Amino acid sequence: MKRIVIAEFMDEAAVARLRARHDVLYDPRLVDDGARLHREAPGADALIVRNRTQVRGELLDALSRCRAVGRLGVGLDNIDVPGCEARGMRVIPATGANALSVAEYVIASAMLLLRGAYASTAEVAAGRWPRNALSNGRELSGKTLGLVGFGAIGQLTSRLAGALGMHAVAFDAAMGAGHPAFAQHGVRCCATLDALLAQADVVSLHLPLVDTTRGLFGAARIAAMKPGAVLVNSARGGIVDEAAVAQALREGRLGARRSTCSTASRSRPRRTSRTAPTCCSRRTSRA
Ligand SMILES: NC(=O)c1ccc[n+]([C@@H]2O[C@H](COP(=O)([O-])OP(=O)(O)OC[C@H]3O[C@@H](n4cnc5c(N)ncnc54)[C@H](O)[C@@H]3O)[C@@H](O)[C@H]2O)c1
Repeated sequence: MKRIVIAEFMDEAAVARLRARHDVLYDPRLVDDGARLHREAPGADALIVRNRTQVRGELLDALSRCRAVGRLGVGLDNIDVPGCEARGMRVIPATGANALSVAEYVIASAMLLLRGAYASTAEVAAGRWPRNALSNGRELSGKTLGLVGFGAIGQLTSRLAGALGMHAVAFDAAMGAGHPAFAQHGVRCCATLDALLAQADVVSLHLPLVDTTRGLFGAARIAAMKPGAVLVNSARGGIVDEAAVAQALREGRLGARRSTCSTASRSRPRRTSRTAPTCCSRRTSRA
């Protein structure tokens, strides 16, 4: 019987299925108890994590007989993938498992941000009715959606956007204009990220957090966006420079921004600034 250590929250029914065939240690608190996780690691044939357990360094060294690292989600920025592979461990993400959930979140965010009505909740709750301020809401239909990263989630988002009358354009560092996914989804490929930013009313990020994408959306990139465009980041907090976003919001250059994640805290996103018209929300799914 193989020993499986599950260090973060997992659906109980799925844990039960594993328990029927394997020796399972399931404790979602393990991620916060590094010493215990380290003690359990040498006995594990497989380790299952979400995005908080850092599978690298000493933990990786301690996983001496582990052959597989399961990732309940998609982004692999918490896992040293080359290090795992060098030790003969397969890294298995749950590709596509929450893609629809994220794509719906992006569309809902774009609607909220362009419409702007959500921002008046506090005023309405306080008994006011800021009708004039709400009359400038924008429609999604006819707007251009710029997808940065055109993998599983980017492609699914383009389908939902198309159904609402949006025009989608995309930039993907690994996909040239001839890639069949663009024609399949009726999406125009942009040769550069700046070409995308120059035309998108909604910019949505769907790329991994790696060394080359960390801080990709700094002040210069944000300045290259169309005036009044909105930014939705459902990828990873570290891709966007939050201080630069807050400054652009205060100066009115950026229409609005919504994010499922922040650099400071993955599990508890915070307001970037008390004065900036920005909106954070909890993650779309337990990715
Ligand atoms: N918020 C959430 O709950 C949630 C859930 C799932 C995934 N995610 C994040 O979304 C990201 C995308 O997920 P996916 O399933 O679409 O992944 P994917 O691997 O299918 O697609 C990612 C795409 O990004 C492209 N890319 C890489 N570097 C780029 C760059 N510098 N510029 C432009 N494109 C680049 C890749 O070529 C790839 O096509 C994940 O890496 C993860 O960080 C978030």
